[in-house]
Amino acid sequence: MPAAGGGVRLGAELPKALVQIAGAPMFVHAARPFLRNAQCVEAVVTAPAGWEPRFQQAADREWGKERVRVVTGGAVRQESVACALAALISDAEFVLIHDAARPLVGEALIGRVLAALADAAAAVPALPLADTLKRTDEQKTVVETVERAGLVAVQTPQGIRRAAAEEAQRRARAEGFEGTDDVSLIEHFALGTVKAVAGDPRNFKITTTEDLTLARKLMELNGQCAGASGKNR
Ligand code: CTP
Ligand code: MG
Repeated sequence: MPAAGGGVRLGAELPKALVQIAGAPMFVHAARPFLRNAQCVEAVVTAPAGWEPRFQQAADREWGKERVRVVTGGAVRQESVACALAALISDAEFVLIHDAARPLVGEALIGRVLAALADAAAAVPALPLADTLKRTDEQKTVVETVERAGLVAVQTPQGIRRAAAEEAQRRARAEGFEGTDDVSLIEHFALGTVKAVAGDPRNFKITTTEDLTLARKLMELNGQCAGASGKNR
């Protein structure tokens, strides 16, 4: 789980993943449904340098000692993912990479990603686009309307076969390639098929204070204070 970002756009005093929502840090909410999944053999969370003890304490409090391992992340998200991959100790065949900034992830979405990995190198949750898309120039003048057919917006968790994920990271480092998400490395190095599965609009990413307020309200509504995150998603 990449959780090593500073959260500059949120502007909190703590790293974003430690910000409290409904009685628990954001990354704890984001990790819960994974740890409830019987197929999850290990979990690694990356923390910003210096904050590791805070993250480890919160994880131990939630799941008991050693169930989740906290390691130091990198300067950019892709490096943090590389740090987490390097820290794996099991022989897991698949990895699910999920942003701590998406605390409203549900168990059904995780199930869809895992199911798609049966016959693909990678799987990604995708949502159709509701709005019309336009390209603008630097003066904010509309240049054209972009054909929407075939375009989707993607989320995490992104599932990747372990061997492909490691190969992709190794080659990305060697060539200095930086992708905007995890499966873009699989696409770039043509390491296999990337399947899209139905995403979940509730699994939005917390970037700004407005997003945080909305997440807190939704969790209140879900009655998530007790840790029972939406099981039917
Ligand atoms: N992330 C990470 N390591 C980094 C940067 C980001 O693990 N060096 C993680 C974040 O913790 C987050 C996810 O990647 O869970 C998506 O990043 P984003 O939403 O951009 O979070 P931040 O980088 O923390 O926020 P900002 O860009 O506003 O600083
Ligand atoms: Mg960022």
